[in-house]
Amino acid sequence: MGIYDPLFEPLQIKHLTIRNRFLSTSHTPAFCDNGVITERYVRYQAEKAKGGVGLTQFGGATAVAPECSSYYGQINGSTDGVVEGYRRMAAAIHGHGAACTVQLTHGGRRERYDIAGWLPQFSASPFREIVHGAFPAVMEDHDIARVRRCFADSARRVREGDVDGVEISCQGGTLVEQFWSPWMNHRTDGYGGSRANRLRLGLEILESVRSAVGDDFVVGIRMPGDQKVAGGLSQDDCVEIAQAYASSGLIDFVSVVGGQASTVKGEAQIWPSMWVPSAGYLALARAIKHAVQIPIFHATRMADAATAAHAVSEGYLDMAGMTRAFIADPHHVNKLTQDKEHEIRPCVGAGYCVDRVITGHDACCIHNVATGREAHIPQHITPGEQAGKQVVVVGGGPAGLEAARVCARRGHHVVLFEAASRLGGQVVLASRATWRREIIGFTVWLGEELERLGVEIHLNRLADASAVLEQNPDVVVIASGGVPNTGEFPGAEHVTTSWDVLAGVATPTEQVLMYDNSGGHVGLSCADFMASAGSSVELITSDPSFGRELGGTNLGAYMNEVYRHDVVLKTDEAVTAVRRTGNRLTATVSNIYSSHERELTVDQIVGEVGTLPNDELYFELKPRSRNLGELDLDAMTRFEPQRIDTHPQGEFFLYRIGDAWASRNIHASVLDAMRVCKDL
Ligand SMILES: Cc1cc2nc3c(=O)[nH]c(=O)nc-3n(C[C@H](O)[C@H](O)[C@H](O)COP(=O)(O)O)c2cc1C
Ligand code: SF4
Repeated sequence: MGIYDPLFEPLQIKHLTIRNRFLSTSHTPAFCDNGVITERYVRYQAEKAKGGVGLTQFGGATAVAPECSSYYGQINGSTDGVVEGYRRMAAAIHGHGAACTVQLTHGGRRERYDIAGWLPQFSASPFREIVHGAFPAVMEDHDIARVRRCFADSARRVREGDVDGVEISCQGGTLVEQFWSPWMNHRTDGYGGSRANRLRLGLEILESVRSAVGDDFVVGIRMPGDQKVAGGLSQDDCVEIAQAYASSGLIDFVSVVGGQASTVKGEAQIWPSMWVPSAGYLALARAIKHAVQIPIFHATRMADAATAAHAVSEGYLDMAGMTRAFIADPHHVNKLTQDKEHEIRPCVGAGYCVDRVITGHDACCIHNVATGREAHIPQHITPGEQAGKQVVVVGGGPAGLEAARVCARRGHHVVLFEAASRLGGQVVLASRATWRREIIGFTVWLGEELERLGVEIHLNRLADASAVLEQNPDVVVIASGGVPNTGEFPGAEHVTTSWDVLAGVATPTEQVLMYDNSGGHVGLSCADFMASAGSSVELITSDPSFGRELGGTNLGAYMNEVYRHDVVLKTDEAVTAVRRTGNRLTATVSNIYSSHERELTVDQIVGEVGTLPNDELYFELKPRSRNLGELDLDAMTRFEPQRIDTHPQGEFFLYRIGDAWASRNIHASVLDAMRVCKDL
């Protein structure tokens, strides 16, 4: 191991010995059922412990009070019923040798009143938060006393639940931070104005927590190292806050984040996608580490052990958070110790996991579909009893690569045909957009895995039926992706596809009209790509907003970039016709509500309407297959093997997956591949 040695030093915090410095910071994957810890949640956390992590901070944003909703699918820690769930979780984590804490949170205005108790939200001052939209009630003295009691009772439950410690959330736009920050706190009583007054609520909460759990229990805080917003807490302010709290003797660790989460741009900064550089907030952790004498935790885009080891050995921090790295591969640590570093599935910072939670769904990694599905999909695919089949995979995008990987791990002989000169499919295009280059990392990893597993890869090979049949296959997986769609209207043939722009086949011109009717990454990426290359771009969509398929961590980045590059944005409009006007193009643009029309003459019109399945080969092979191309959808949703064999005289089983089936996102394509292939 060598360079990673600093990460394998144990850390002692009071009674608690943490076996190494690998940390999964507090996060909610939204796996609770109405605030109750589910079996799925326990398995998800246990897998990280099994994979070698030292400390896993489960229970992100655990609710402490009746006015807190489980908006993000988090634990409801405000009643005694939670203790049983804590015990189950702690036993599972401890069973694999890891330590655990729970993050107690009062969201303050960062909640919605209309989900659970229909109670108002509370805050220091009555300011509406953009992300959640609530107009909070200003906290009175009895509210403050009640919230202190809620934190104390919730902390007692954590201790009764055999968990090793608590983290009080003072970040992410939650209540304590709302009191800390002059940007959010305009009070004139003893809890507003001076710094000492603004820090008071947090310290009082910690006093209450301490008296509930005792001096020997591990208690820490999570706080910003810089709010990164005008009028908010600066880096110097945050260092002083950390010093004040550490010197109170009430806390045993500080976990440092960067930014705040009260705006969509803030979400893109605090839980950053690849928009923020790798290890971008390390300096914030270091500044606090140098100012206090207690252990410092920090996570944010330290996705590889080399960066984490550097941070620990240089004394920037004590526990190295690699939260999404352990979502992308919960066995990351074990693979390091077993000299299987090359097998670590990389976190590329796509932000799909956290954006799912932000948009009200459960967390999923964009390319590791086993995470969060531990009961159904193993992290490590092993050879099956039927090993030795001949499998042909057509297409080297995410679906085809994953299908080939899984089939090879099942012990089959796999041949993969890819029409392009490199693997990756649409991900290659996505990586050409300005700030999303790192997305290519996971298809590169998949390609390397295929080489290690001995998959026969044929690049520049547009497979036809005879090429497939020559292989004498037992199974054919069609993952040939889609072809770009520009929609149907008179003159659509004049439209340039977003793919041609991103691939460099079409050069962006001076004045461009682009329409995006898919709401995903491609439209905003392409508009940003053209605008940053110097084009004057107007982007329209027939959707009510841009990027409706995206969550804040990606949307905030895109919106920041397109506004920065002066892209003109208009919703609720559709292109209904295009005609040539000399050497330019004139688009008829119609408002989808009023039907009012306008005309726009530009040099180039670029369209993004998802893809249409590239399915010619599939339909050619279908009559010769044993299942006539049919997939058992019930079996897919139950993660069971495909057993359809309606045409036994057929020569092979034929499965169509990913965009070759229907235009969807990367996760859906990879999940198709896994569900179809894991039992072959
Ligand atoms: C799915 C998901 C949910 C999260 N929920 C929380 C949360 O409830 N509380 C919190 O403090 N941070 C939360 N985070 C932020 C993480 O703790 C961490 O700060 C962030 O992922 C950046 O670290 P990383 O780059 O190592 O992943 C969440 C992150 C993810 C991916
Ligand atoms: S979705 Fe992206 S950011 Fe999240 S764990 Fe997977 S690769 Fe990392």
